[in-house]
Amino acid sequence: YTFRHKDLTSKLADPNRLRSKPDVKDLKFGKFFTDHMFKVFYHKQLGGWQKPIIIPFENISLHPAAKVLHYAIELFEGLKAYRGVDGKIRIFRPDLNMNRMNKSAYNSGLPTFDGYELIKCLNRLIQVDQEWVPHGEGSSLYIRPTLIGIDGTLGVAQSDSALLYTILCPVGEYFQGTTGTISLLADPRYTRAWPGGCGDQKMGSNYGPTFRVQRIATTKGRQQVLWLYGPDHQITEVGTMNIFMFYVGDDGEKVLATPPLNGLILPGVTRQSIIQLCEQWKEFRVEQRDITMNDVIKLKKKLELLEIFGSGTAAIISPVCSIEYLGELIEVPTTGHPFPLYKKIKDHLAAIQYGHIEHPWAQAIE
Ligand code: COI
Repeated sequence: YTFRHKDLTSKLADPNRLRSKPDVKDLKFGKFFTDHMFKVFYHKQLGGWQKPIIIPFENISLHPAAKVLHYAIELFEGLKAYRGVDGKIRIFRPDLNMNRMNKSAYNSGLPTFDGYELIKCLNRLIQVDQEWVPHGEGSSLYIRPTLIGIDGTLGVAQSDSALLYTILCPVGEYFQGTTGTISLLADPRYTRAWPGGCGDQKMGSNYGPTFRVQRIATTKGRQQVLWLYGPDHQITEVGTMNIFMFYVGDDGEKVLATPPLNGLILPGVTRQSIIQLCEQWKEFRVEQRDITMNDVIKLKKKLELLEIFGSGTAAIISPVCSIEYLGELIEVPTTGHPFPLYKKIKDHLAAIQYGHIEHPWAQAIE
């Protein structure tokens, strides 16, 4: 059961009432929205998925008892479209987002769908709002597919009706005013996810409960929380990013390591892309393994810790300059090298995304 892009109809916004587009330099993540949105309803009683539509951007109206508002039956995705050097608009690996979205839907008791059909609908939405895809590398159009349970009943049960919608935002840098590097707070008293939980699902309920700890981090002058897990203080992820560590291994060989997909972290598309690219480069070892704070400290003491950086669709690649842990500030020399790895990866991904390199990961929308 799925909706079909062949059934998609569009109702376009009044050309006299289009929103004004912000200047690229004023872009702030998730603050500006384009003129249109995509919507498709699911109603079990009506046979499932209804016909998809593109309509002018508008508020959504929900029953006050809608399950999303009470039991957080919500999940989302984040992917981007880029305006290439040749003027073509490319989306980066949308198939991976569709697979992840269907997994989150299944785990939320919400209806699944054919990801190929949603990609086709999103391509159409982006075409309609193509003027909104910013010019200039470093900026892009952020695509936010969202699926919510909308039954207006308070029983704690899965929702028999749902709304899948997608909104678009022109975006620039995610972390602003950080001079390009970020500092993290790693405090073992706080936990984001646990084995057997849903920390590897892109559900809104993974994000809402983190703001108390985020506030503690901000108060201490750290931009983000590095979430730890277990008695050995394993590093997991940053909440908005997966995390990578580049270091010199015991045998003198360089290693790029990132925590494994063990249920505690979000399976990031950028994370997977970095692993695949670096494995192809064969310039150093790539390992998915547990990394503890003790590992970080030991490497730092031996001067073998080279870089730590975060990766995500919104955050792209963000170098980490320090980690506050148990009252100490561990400085990380990420940006201190003449040719840092994070920069090489960032540039290579950008070359694919902005069409400098033709690559199957970034397909132009037709
Ligand atoms: C993304 O990178 O797309 C994310 O969803 C991270 C955050 C903005 C929630």
